[in-house]
Amino acid sequence: MALLDGVKAIVTGGASGIGEATCRRFVAEGAAVAVVDRNEGAAATVAADLGAVAVVADVASGEAVEAAFAQAEQALGGLTVLVNNAGVGNVKPLHEYTDKDWDLLVGVNARGVFNGMRAGAPRITANGGGAIVNLASVSGIRPTRGESPYAAAKAATIALSQSGALEYGPLVRVNTVSPGFIETPLTSFAMGDDEIRGELEAGTPLQRVGTADEVASVITFLCSPLASYVTGINLVVDGGSLLPSPQVDGFLNRLLP
Ligand code: NAI
Repeated sequence: MALLDGVKAIVTGGASGIGEATCRRFVAEGAAVAVVDRNEGAAATVAADLGAVAVVADVASGEAVEAAFAQAEQALGGLTVLVNNAGVGNVKPLHEYTDKDWDLLVGVNARGVFNGMRAGAPRITANGGGAIVNLASVSGIRPTRGESPYAAAKAATIALSQSGALEYGPLVRVNTVSPGFIETPLTSFAMGDDEIRGELEAGTPLQRVGTADEVASVITFLCSPLASYVTGINLVVDGGSLLPSPQVDGFLNRLLP
């Protein structure tokens, strides 16, 4: 028996990166999957390849998410698992972000998760229960320079997941996954630069950036019966990158042989 036999899952942002890897892993583990994405062509390609369903929606719109989830639920014959993964990023000084930038970053990364839980949790409950995983980021735990709206939205996602765990238990488990630096189209602007890549690797105890498959494995675990007593947690998948301390590591290293 496969890990996700009988699961009927929606993955938002399933047309690329971590979302696509999650769709592939879910199908390999026996799940029926709906790829919900704003990119119609890419969603159709991934879905066709996997025998999955493609539904086009902008997760920042509550109305669009409700309609997309109704369509996906009907096509799958129910809903038991939801992965709110769609996300967008940006980097610049806080005072240079416009209202439009804020609306996009918070609209997709935080309101998108809220819209997904609002449309998904009652459906999963009506189906007898299941699991929700929301994608946050290490930036939501230790905010970084230049990512202020993104970091704020990811911190909101962690809180939203915890509220969801309280409100939708015992039938629905709700958890967060916070990736560190993962090689996907979202991070391709940095991955092509050997110097940046070297710095990222040197600052990570596992000495490399992560892959989308490595995040998909953790999402799959949280959505499976292996995690049946796990809810309300934020599972960090970062190769240990939150651990190094720029303040004391250099000094303490000098005291070590
Ligand atoms: P990606 O850019 O490869 O894929 C994102 C997908 O979301 C794309 O298919 C895109 O079309 C879709 N999408 C974007 N806005 C949307 C919207 N408004 N409505 C519907 N779909 C939309 O990104 P990646 O790297 O796979 O990221 C997935 C999640 O993981 C995001 O929430 C991101 O913030 C988070 N994350 C990624 C990290 C990384 O290093 N790649 C690190 C930490 C968090």
